[in-house]
Amino acid sequence: DSESKLQLIQRHIRAFPDFPKKGILFRDICPILKNPASLTAVIDLLEEHVRKNHPRVDVIVGLDARGFLFGPPLALRLGLGFILVRKKGKLPGATVSVSYELEYSKAEVEIQEDAVAAGQRVLIIDDLLATGGTMLAACELMRKRQAEVLGCMVVVELRDLNGADRLKPHQVFSLVQY
Ligand code: PRP
Ligand code: ADE
Repeated sequence: DSESKLQLIQRHIRAFPDFPKKGILFRDICPILKNPASLTAVIDLLEEHVRKNHPRVDVIVGLDARGFLFGPPLALRLGLGFILVRKKGKLPGATVSVSYELEYSKAEVEIQEDAVAAGQRVLIIDDLLATGGTMLAACELMRKRQAEVLGCMVVVELRDLNGADRLKPHQVFSLVQY
């Protein structure tokens, strides 16, 4: 059932103190990928959520880099295509970009201009929601292309950082919360 799938997922997330710098407790999802049963559990629960709450979704959008691990298997389950939101400078052809603030720096994400069509309904996926800055930039990219964001999905949500509040009115669905 759903509860044992969540327990399996939780057992495959590790915490590393002071990575990548002092004061950060890094939540490592690599063990999920290494264990086929826990990766299957992640995709099962995400698929269940999408079929129940967003049956009209047209396409799955994933965030560079760890959103690329969970997005394509989910998209395949749903019979949908997958779009890449990449960090700046990685995509050929015409692109649309959005810059956003990090703690001590700026970053920029982009999509190919022809990636989504106006009016398409998208769900955005990443491995983890922290401050929500990356996810918010992806939502802004979708807005620029007139695509409709039905919701945001992550495997791990770091609740203390209030990312979900920052993303309002967009809805955030997470499997595991810390
Ligand atoms: C991590 C994580 C999310 C983002 C969350 O990616 O995979 O994409 O940070 O942080 P935020 O909610 O504060 O924006 P990172 O930038 O470390 O890049 P990576 O996926 O290439 O490792
Ligand atoms: N991305 C941003 N904060 C993170 C954290 N604490 N663990 C893993 N990935 C992250």
